Amino acid sequence: MSEKPDIRLGVNVDHVATLRNARGGDHPDPVRAARTAISAGADNITAHLREDRRHIRDDDMRRLKEAISVPLNFEMAATAEMLKIACEVRPDACCLVPENRNERTTEGGLDVAGQMAYLKPFVRELAGAGARVSLFVDPDPAQIDAAREAGAAAVEIHTGAYKQACQATTPDRIEREFDLIRAAAVHGAGLGLEIHAGHGLDFHNVQPVAAIPEIVELNIGHFIMGEAVFAGLPAVVKEMKQLMRDARTGGHY
Ligand code: PXP
Repeated sequence: MSEKPDIRLGVNVDHVATLRNARGGDHPDPVRAARTAISAGADNITAHLREDRRHIRDDDMRRLKEAISVPLNFEMAATAEMLKIACEVRPDACCLVPENRNERTTEGGLDVAGQMAYLKPFVRELAGAGARVSLFVDPDPAQIDAAREAGAAAVEIHTGAYKQACQATTPDRIEREFDLIRAAAVHGAGLGLEIHAGHGLDFHNVQPVAAIPEIVELNIGHFIMGEAVFAGLPAVVKEMKQLMRDARTGGHY
């Protein structure tokens, strides 16, 4: 047995809704995907209700909350509209992300330091509704300090730049981006924050991140759903968890 704490896999079901919405019907259902992922070992389910409702819809959030047996992580922009919906849905966790209408996916971490006066009461209100609040931040110690000051219980470290470095496969760049993630995780854990990470993780790049002992949760969506087209969702979730566990217990990567 490893002495490192266990690591959770949060499966993001947004892109099951993307596929459903492409035809305007109700298939494939993100709630069914969530249940399937849970049966295969997912520890949490994440869904992002975007302002433009391009994938997950309000009703999906409500159905997810009712249907699933594991914690629901509601990813959202820090807007009054989302706060109201989160207070109604009462998810177990909320992850605040920056949102920009024209982006394809979340492009960077929140500027917590620059929005402290706005975010601090926002985080307090969400936490008051019973959610464990995490802030999605770049691996930057100043933003992690700010997340703590804003009252967040957790930070989710943005791994997008690491993913891009892995795609470019220039070892120096990969190492530089990875070192930033590791240092940010150590820094945040030292402040008493729970450390999550996510964005762009896949079978090839997940293990070094999963091996960082301070990180206790990874949120992964696009790769899992894309790979599920070929291998099936249960098999992909099982393999991702196995890779994470192997990394955690000192297995090879
Ligand atoms: N974490 C956050 C905060 C995100 O915005 C996303 C993308 O929705 C993810 C994790 C998952 O990223 P990916 O879909 O690339 O696995």
